[in-house]
Amino acid sequence: MRIAVPAETQGAETRVAATPETVRKFIGLGAEVVVEKGAGTTSGISDAEYEAAGAKIAASAAEAVAGAEIVLKVRRPAEAEINGLPAGALVVGIMDPYGSEAQVEALAKANVAAFAMEFMPRITRAQVMDVLSSQANLAGYRAVVDAAAEYGRALPMMMTAAGTVPAAKIFIMGVGVAGLQAIATARRMGAIVTATDVRPATKEQVESLGAKFLAVEDEEFKQAQTAGGYAKEMSKEYQAKQAELTASHIAKQDIVITTALIPGRPAPKLISAAMVESMKAGSVIVDLAVERGGNCELAKPGETVMTANGVKIVGHLNVPGRLPATSSSLYAKNLFAFVETLIDKKERKLAVNWEDELVKATCLTKDGAVIHPNFAPKA
Ligand code: NAI
Repeated sequence: MRIAVPAETQGAETRVAATPETVRKFIGLGAEVVVEKGAGTTSGISDAEYEAAGAKIAASAAEAVAGAEIVLKVRRPAEAEINGLPAGALVVGIMDPYGSEAQVEALAKANVAAFAMEFMPRITRAQVMDVLSSQANLAGYRAVVDAAAEYGRALPMMMTAAGTVPAAKIFIMGVGVAGLQAIATARRMGAIVTATDVRPATKEQVESLGAKFLAVEDEEFKQAQTAGGYAKEMSKEYQAKQAELTASHIAKQDIVITTALIPGRPAPKLISAAMVESMKAGSVIVDLAVERGGNCELAKPGETVMTANGVKIVGHLNVPGRLPATSSSLYAKNLFAFVETLIDKKERKLAVNWEDELVKATCLTKDGAVIHPNFAPKA
């Protein structure tokens, strides 16, 4: 049973899909692990560390994947990588399939079984495999660190002989996994933190972290959480009330971090150009939703915008990739936890149960066809 870990080919991707720790564990299950030379460099892992864990180092991606039964990836294989994949191999990674139907089709044509880790059901058994949570948590942390770095003042209150420095006011919009970690981080750094969300369950979570909750708590708010635990898209009326409530609050903030997302929809627009204009010079907005259209009207993907009134709007892409060593370490553990369920531990070989609910939820392609219900051709 050969497992390949090719280097990520997208220039901006700093993470890697296996660490020496997970390599050791795979070898313990009877696998042979081949890592492409330099695959861990940007995550601070040397080839020597992989070798010490028992991996073989391959000189190229082609050499790494040759004969592999499992290929571990962070991102969906690019076109050039697909051709080299052995037919029948399982390819596990973040496949980002929406809007990339042609690429999913190409994976099917290459006759590989592609698994989208982001489709892992959020059930107790699969918590350890939840890449969305492991990466969003780190993005929430990093958003506060990035905001602090862009902000020209200190975050905590400081009483010094030369005078008192006031604590920064930080507002977190969207309190899912990323938002909760952003609140916790901002509190640890000494800021005065407020937060908002449309799901009622978040109120208690915000307060338990020592922050103040602010939201339009009407009838629609009481119904905003879906059975899956996610937010619904709110009505125009609710959005108008929300904007009215948050506008005066945003004007008084030093830092605003936005993390609001709705599954399968563009990110809700929560900060208008007028709201940005109302903020003081030197204020900072970090928009974590920028890859999905942004929560702030003026955010630009991959850029830090400085507005005419002196507000910085930070729109970093791949924020978990800004902490590559930590994000790779957690991502690799998520992958191991899933792939381990595809291996027969007694026989020490691959044995996929295609009827398992985790396999069914994540498998996009198999035996030359797109099989996932969200992408398969309609009968
Ligand atoms: P997400 O990334 O889809 O959204 C982030 C946040 O934005 C959510 O809290 C959402 O309510 C909020 N939001 C959406 N529209 C908004 C608006 N117009 N204004 C303000 N906020 C808005 O969510 P994420 O982080 O994936 O978490 C969603 C839920 O799933 C949470 O309740 C989380 O605790 C739960 N969860 C459950 C897990 C499990 O049971 N295994 C694992 C991870 C998360």
